[in-house]
Amino acid sequence: MTILRDKHTSTAQFRQVLREVAFVLGCEATKDLALGNIEIETPLEKLRAPYLEGKKLCFVSILRAGNGLLDGLLDLIPSARVGHVGMYRDHETLEAHRYYFKTPDKLGERLVIMVDPMLATGNTAISAADELKEAGARALKFLCLVAAPEGVEKFSKAHPDIPIITAALDRELNDVGYILPGLGDAGDRIYGTKG
Ligand code: URA
Repeated sequence: MTILRDKHTSTAQFRQVLREVAFVLGCEATKDLALGNIEIETPLEKLRAPYLEGKKLCFVSILRAGNGLLDGLLDLIPSARVGHVGMYRDHETLEAHRYYFKTPDKLGERLVIMVDPMLATGNTAISAADELKEAGARALKFLCLVAAPEGVEKFSKAHPDIPIITAALDRELNDVGYILPGLGDAGDRIYGTKG
């Protein structure tokens, strides 16, 4: 997280470290997946051993910064399906507006893990979760890198059934909706679109 927060970190290193952190966050988000038991033989003896029952999974990237987390998550679970929700923030009202929505079918049978590096005001995450529920999703989690207390409170009130998995809970939002201390604009850091 220190490397990601540091403004001197290059775009290439930012992407690489984000991928590694996403992998770890993915472990946390999936640690309670259902396990079954199968009988196997080790070279020495028979054993009833746990295995993943294979609940269908879907990562949903909130564009564009969510895509920065996908590579690490797909390193962990290569078979997961991926959806995309395009939301942009109106910089004056900080309201979220949808411009794209594409997800795999049977959302209701899947664990849907929404991914966005920053949980700031919570508006984008709330709208994305609204849309996913409307499309049939029933079991959701929200995975992010940095969360603001204001965003956590607002999101948890709107969607108390959706657990938040985050690497850091930061101090506060500034008056234009950026997280402090944060890491700046996650999309710009991932894609090198500023400076
Ligand atoms: N989105 C970002 O990319 N960074 C913030 O600090 C807040 C929202």
